[in-house]
Amino acid sequence: MKLKLLVLLLTISCTNLLKSQTPTDYLPKEFHKKRREILRSKMPSNSVAVVFANPLRNRANDVDYVFHQDPNFYYLTGFREPNAVVLIFSENQTDANGNSYNEIIYVPKRDPRSEMWNGKRLGVAGAKEELGFTMAKTSEEFTMESLDFKKFDNVHIVKFSDDYRNNSRDKGETYDLVNAFKNKSGYHSMKIKNPNVQYIHKAIANVPDARLEELAKNLSKSLEIYPEYKKDPLINEYISADSDILRKELKQKIKLSLNKRESNIDFKLLPEVLAEMREVKTPEELKLLTKAIRISAVGQIEVMKAMQPEMSETEIQGIHEFVYKKYGAEYEGYPSIVGAGNNGCILHYIENNKTKVGKDLVLMDLGAEYRGYTADVTRTIPANGKFSPEQRAIYELVLEAQDAGIEVCKPGNQFWQPGQETKNIINEGLAALGIISSPSAKHNYFPHGTSHHIGLDVHDPGTYGAFKENMVITVEPGIYIPEGSPCDKKWWGIAVRIEDDILITKNGPVNLSGEAPRTVENIEKMMAKKSILNDFVLPNLD
Ligand code: GLY
Ligand code: MN
Ligand code: MN
Repeated sequence: MKLKLLVLLLTISCTNLLKSQTPTDYLPKEFHKKRREILRSKMPSNSVAVVFANPLRNRANDVDYVFHQDPNFYYLTGFREPNAVVLIFSENQTDANGNSYNEIIYVPKRDPRSEMWNGKRLGVAGAKEELGFTMAKTSEEFTMESLDFKKFDNVHIVKFSDDYRNNSRDKGETYDLVNAFKNKSGYHSMKIKNPNVQYIHKAIANVPDARLEELAKNLSKSLEIYPEYKKDPLINEYISADSDILRKELKQKIKLSLNKRESNIDFKLLPEVLAEMREVKTPEELKLLTKAIRISAVGQIEVMKAMQPEMSETEIQGIHEFVYKKYGAEYEGYPSIVGAGNNGCILHYIENNKTKVGKDLVLMDLGAEYRGYTADVTRTIPANGKFSPEQRAIYELVLEAQDAGIEVCKPGNQFWQPGQETKNIINEGLAALGIISSPSAKHNYFPHGTSHHIGLDVHDPGTYGAFKENMVITVEPGIYIPEGSPCDKKWWGIAVRIEDDILITKNGPVNLSGEAPRTVENIEKMMAKKSILNDFVLPNLD
């Protein structure tokens, strides 16, 4: 008896020991449950929301990419494995055994052989215990059960990206789940409009009557490059109509067709509600997001200290990512961007394969992902520790623009305002430097937007209307002057982006990434500091 007790105690303490050796600061299951409740409260009666987990994606042969969960699915469930689906009902449902439930998750069944290769999985029991679902089944059951989606007034889904692999080894992969859903719900027989055709239809439906003819002419001209859209009967009729009476009739017809529901499947509500929910962060989310941001800022600081002209872009990337891992961040939130000189002009440059950064400015846009939440921080620094006069002029212009952009990040202000502030200052500044002829001259030196939400996605969803407290957004103006640009050669190959992550509060913007130096003086001061990596010398293998 005593022996049995001892064995039991040993087993419990071993399990606890194992648990204590894995991260414990993920969002709690109560957080995800609350998100499901909020979503349910926003769904019309007699409806169901269906959200799929991400699939595994193949890298090559028998090697897959590292799995990353679909952020909406994670937000609603906390599940970090592939090949699952969750159903959230507006009202209680009753199963054949009389059990009542208003949500159900289908997860891969546990399989000792697969777990020997790939690690422990939650399975149905774990989904109940660790994720807090009262009703959970295997993914395979989802494909086999006769679920009646047609009985609902609305079946809310997010549009499929359809890049699921069909690996017939296991039933219950996301591919099978999506296919089963499409069959059960009648999705397969739905006529899904091409999004571009839909876009043109919307333009016609919304054109003022006074501009019916003008739109027809413009469409006819611009669709010369995309003749396939002219084949749509309504677009074709609209373009060929020879009077405003006819065009007006067609406008009405298109309006009606846009409002007509093909089936009970709805693509609109779920992304809209999730965007509205996800754009404002809860205290638990802010804790994780702030940690991801601070880790990324420390990465920038360590690189500032370690940077040497003979370093490669890859090595610089490695130092950032080493810092992330040292803090326990699982992933990068997006492929790291480290571009020296002209490479910095490629906005999402991820090759990072220049072997020597030399005297160039190095643009470094990287973000740690911590427990699902990703930072997005950019610093641009001179590889040799000192800004040249030209590099400094461009850098200080971007910094001035960024300061002005951050300043307007206040509750009640509009999402477009930082963009307007930064564009105005950059246009004035480029003209003052003689890079463009006047502040209103057209140019391509700042070709991207200034702000976006961050969170579970680096480009997090949101309504992009007015700022609200506890949103976290980037402010990231930039100037990019590629070789061959129509300006003095001395500016060629200079690319600067400064990107910080800003928390909107009622007391004004809080720069969560501000501990990474931003001013020329503070960057040069930080770069003059000794790095522990100066003494990290590896053997020459050539
Ligand atoms: N790192 C991507 C972006 O700044 O939006
Ligand atoms: Mn960004
Ligand atoms: Mn970025």
